[in-house]
Amino acid sequence: MTRIATKKRLVYYGSQALREKARAIKDIDDGLIDLIESMFNIMYRANGIGLAAPQVDVGSRLIVLDLEHYQGPAMALINPVITKRSTILDPYEEGCLSVPGITAEIMRPVEISVKAVSPEGKELAFDADGLLARVIQHEVDHLDGVLFIDYLEDFARKELTQELKKIKKMNKAS
Ligand code: NI
Repeated sequence: MTRIATKKRLVYYGSQALREKARAIKDIDDGLIDLIESMFNIMYRANGIGLAAPQVDVGSRLIVLDLEHYQGPAMALINPVITKRSTILDPYEEGCLSVPGITAEIMRPVEISVKAVSPEGKELAFDADGLLARVIQHEVDHLDGVLFIDYLEDFARKELTQELKKIKKMNKAS
């Protein structure tokens, strides 16, 4: 049987895909493995360090990340769940491939515990801190329809209105 690879592309702020709650993944099949591969490719092409499936218009609970430039791991996480968050928060300047050109300092828990499934079907449970914790929290937010700019105070988000309008139009350009 031939596999028909559908071409995946990034969607941007304003896309409904970024506002929906993604569904749990039930089977690790060829389609999923293909999706993981294209997500890594799209992320690398855009010089990103993390990407969630809704950002390529797929409503599945899947994230990929690569922190090798920061002496961190590269991984794909299926159905990731944050099971614990430290009460200590830290600020960090975040950006997002779906909200290009905008960065903002966001407060998040410093340490988290994560459960997920690997592409090989292995159950994973690990603790993360630093940039890894940051990226996982940002990407898991995407699976719940949350963007980093949602954490900004109203006045700060208002200042971005013009830029966000421009980004919205990127969804129509192809
Ligand atoms: Ni993002």
